[in-house]
Amino acid sequence: MLLWLLLLAGEAAAGGSAVAVLSAELRGQPAREVSPAFLSLTIDANLAADPRFIPILGSPKLRTLARGLSPGFLRFGGTRTDFLIFDPEKDSTLDERDFWEPQENQGICGVRSIPTAVEELLLSQWPIQEKILLTEQYWKKYKNTTITKSTVDILYSFAKCSKLDLIFGLNALLRKGGLQWDSSNAQLLLDYCASQHYNMSWELGNEPNSFRKKSGIYIDGSQLGQDFIHLYHLLRNYSSYKNSKLYGPDVGQPRKNTQKLLKSFLKSGGKVIDSVTWHQWLDKLGLSARMGIDVVMRQVFYGAGTYHLVDANFEPLPDYWLSLLYKKLVGTKVLKVGLKGADPKKLRVYLHCTNNHNPMYKEGDVTLFLLNLYNVTKHVQLPHNLSNKHIDEYLLLPHGEQHILSRSVQLNGHVLRMVDSKTLPALTKKPLPPGSALGLPAFSYGFYVIKNAKAIACI
Ligand SMILES: *[C@@H]1O[C@H](CO)[C@@H](O)[C@H](O)[C@H]1NC(C)=O
Ligand SMILES: *[C@@H]1O[C@H](CO)[C@@H](O)[C@H](O)[C@H]1NC(C)=O
Ligand SMILES: *[C@@H]1O[C@H](CO)[C@@H](O)[C@H](O)[C@H]1NC(C)=O
Ligand SMILES: *[C@@H]1O[C@H](CO)[C@@H](O)[C@H](O)[C@H]1NC(C)=O
Repeated sequence: MLLWLLLLAGEAAAGGSAVAVLSAELRGQPAREVSPAFLSLTIDANLAADPRFIPILGSPKLRTLARGLSPGFLRFGGTRTDFLIFDPEKDSTLDERDFWEPQENQGICGVRSIPTAVEELLLSQWPIQEKILLTEQYWKKYKNTTITKSTVDILYSFAKCSKLDLIFGLNALLRKGGLQWDSSNAQLLLDYCASQHYNMSWELGNEPNSFRKKSGIYIDGSQLGQDFIHLYHLLRNYSSYKNSKLYGPDVGQPRKNTQKLLKSFLKSGGKVIDSVTWHQWLDKLGLSARMGIDVVMRQVFYGAGTYHLVDANFEPLPDYWLSLLYKKLVGTKVLKVGLKGADPKKLRVYLHCTNNHNPMYKEGDVTLFLLNLYNVTKHVQLPHNLSNKHIDEYLLLPHGEQHILSRSVQLNGHVLRMVDSKTLPALTKKPLPPGSALGLPAFSYGFYVIKNAKAIACI
């Protein structure tokens, strides 16, 4: 009893009033709309630093996990982008060819898929490779690496099997006399991809704002813009790519110099770009949608580095499950929502139309997405005119002793785990009676589908 009282007192002290009240605008038009590919994936191009590891993308488990997050883009990019040279003559190593087992009856997902023993071998060798890559990253010393036709094939079949649209980052550091972009290597790659009828989109370079640090070459925004125009015209020469999308310039954190680069880039090359891309808004899906950002590319689905959706043993991390729920429940139309009685930085709220491809829900249903960063439970009360609605709750909580650092999560009280390498677990809802306050424990994420909300914007 005493403990309860202490907890309640703590709650009042930490968060002001215990119940926050929600207001939602369901009669008007959507505040904005994001792409269905909002929340997309990146495979770090450093996976290609040693070609022995590329076949990892043939892992059925990795493919199953990636497919869970489709539709979306699969961006193959990162610092290594600007150090990859395509060699169409070079044969893939014998080793690599030995991996493939023809698996005819599995359709596109049988292509380039690897047997478990090979997967285990590669995974056991990966930690050493990861260390090499991180050391290289630390010293900012990158060597050029050759990629082969097989590299491109594996990447493309991974994307296809995962139902993701591949975006390939072309090397922007190949220069004629340190000046204009030299497109001859890109042409070899385009020739090969076109010959295979690979349907994909393109980028040129990665974080051009730090080219000098990585390579000693400085390229200003205006030159980069002209290079994009060059690539645009080059793509128009291929019937397969004359309508393909071109993204860029993939700048890093928008500091002052980067902003300058972006500005002069947009002035000279802006008109050939389908979508302006940059990095670092990483854990703010809801915020990005509201701010008018179309697509969030998550760094990194799998690879070396610190931020992953999937760990070194292909076990999905908490952010994977969060992303999966997001994909299944959250639609593209963003609605206006507000919250009274809580610090908006600590109790974050977003409202979208429910994903209209989810067969469990109907037009007009809405999904509320709440993130509780308070260290105590918070309660949220829906507005009066939604108090008679049935609600499906999907509450994600860290599982185990380590709380927010935990590597596993539970959904509505059940730990989320893959059923087997080809099956994701069911995402089981918890129906709440109409009029319930929504209870969010400390550091939890909750998705709430408000059924039969009849939101005008969602019909
Ligand atoms: C509920 O009432 C608010 C305030 O009057 C209004 O903005 C909102 O659209 C209403 N929602 C529904 C579902 O009627
Ligand atoms: C290529 O992919 C895009 C994006 O998925 C799709 O819209 C387009 O129809 C595809 N083109 C072909 C020729 O398959
Ligand atoms: C496209 O093809 C035409 C005709 O072959 C050629 O003149 C032009 O230089 C090519 N454009 C690029 C950007 O390579
Ligand atoms: C919650 O955080 C506040 C500071 O923001 C701290 O004083 C309090 O002890 C914390 N409570 C718990 C239960 O961790």
